[in-house]
Amino acid sequence: MRRPFIAGNWKMHKTVAEATELASGLKEALASVKDIELAVCPTATALGAVTQVLADSNIGAGAQNMHWEASGAFTGEIAPAMVKELATYVIIGHSERRQFFGETDETVNKKLLAAIAQGLIPIVCIGESLAQNEAGETVAFVGGQIRGAFAGVPKEDARNVVLAYEPIWAIGTGRTAMPEDADRIIREAIRDVLTDLYDDATAQAIRVQYGGSVKPDNMADFIIMPEIDGALVGGASLTVEAFAGIVNSAIKALGNG
Ligand code: PGA
Repeated sequence: MRRPFIAGNWKMHKTVAEATELASGLKEALASVKDIELAVCPTATALGAVTQVLADSNIGAGAQNMHWEASGAFTGEIAPAMVKELATYVIIGHSERRQFFGETDETVNKKLLAAIAQGLIPIVCIGESLAQNEAGETVAFVGGQIRGAFAGVPKEDARNVVLAYEPIWAIGTGRTAMPEDADRIIREAIRDVLTDLYDDATAQAIRVQYGGSVKPDNMADFIIMPEIDGALVGGASLTVEAFAGIVNSAIKALGNG
């Protein structure tokens, strides 16, 4: 059984003061949640402070990005060991990084290998553009992203990777994929490809979040789908009310709360 996992991606929002306030509020609001894994991913500047606030809580902290090299002349970058000092998780290959910061399947692969070597739990993002979706290329494209990301990743490490299927056209737009479509794409572009790369048991063990305009009032529709194991939430992770609302509607929909 895959343990449901809901993570907040705070993107480039919140000062340290604002981030600690949000983390404190979430810690209190979500204290009784047991059956869903929870994480928040603040900016790098707030990561240390948020991790401190969340110590001894049921909410983990993650970074939004990192470099794959251990150290060196890479101005502005953060190494895996530096992330590990402050976080449990790391988001890799978010579509905004692919779109605005030159991230490719190759850099995603390097980062994934580095995260695994460092003992971080990676959340690897994949997803198609609107044009690819309308051209019927989604399964081939996302399948290619999966093959690229997992190159050289051994089976025993692959099962601990978390994936976030985020159709680019659904991110921050208020427009979500149909839950049935997302479920089918996860099956055909992700689990089938993982079965091909590894085996069925590994493909079934890997958790896949849905991302893209997840809100308290649509979380239930996604979490009840057989292939969807949680969510990566952007905009609606920025207030206690919205993020706790998402977690609570997932609990209710799963009937385990
Ligand atoms: P959104 O972002 O929830 O604001 O659409 C999701 C994401 O980019 O991870």
